[in-house]
Amino acid sequence: MMRKTYRGNAIEVTFDLDVCIHVGECLRGLPGVFDLERRPWIAPDAAPADDVAMVVERCPSGALQYRRSDGGPEEREPETPRVTPMRNGPLLVRGRVEVRHDDGTLEILPRASLCRCGSSANKPFCDNSHLRAKFRAPGDLIHIDLSPVRRAIDRPMDKAVDPRGKEA
Ligand code: SF4
Ligand code: FES
Repeated sequence: MMRKTYRGNAIEVTFDLDVCIHVGECLRGLPGVFDLERRPWIAPDAAPADDVAMVVERCPSGALQYRRSDGGPEEREPETPRVTPMRNGPLLVRGRVEVRHDDGTLEILPRASLCRCGSSANKPFCDNSHLRAKFRAPGDLIHIDLSPVRRAIDRPMDKAVDPRGKEA
């Protein structure tokens, strides 16, 4: 658990690399705000807060979250949590997810990608081990575009080399 905070005037964005599944929605959605090559990699004020919020809500893992400082609407979780199995991959959950960590701390996520292949080293979260394990199971085909964190569909960037992990 290593959630970092990026403060803007209108919106504050937080990021936890430990749960990111390297789908790259952020980098493709708003490249001026989310830029792997820049430090800090998130510039929350580089786009209207509504746009930043919209892209953050597309992050399927809950790695990205936001809080508005401009009085704008906060993320609204669906009343009933929705669980979507990703074909050959994790369960994508939308709704309030409570995770109790080994050290007893409680984390609440508005979205999460949960392992269903059994191979993740970061359970209950998916860490993309399903790709190595060649896990096969029915589910929705989720389209993943190539991006700087996913240069080949079946080879996401390794967390150990992700430059966002080295950011102070
Ligand atoms: S899961 Fe995808 S959208 Fe979310 S932070 Fe990681 S790369 Fe960006
Ligand atoms: S489903 Fe992704 S690591 Fe298990």
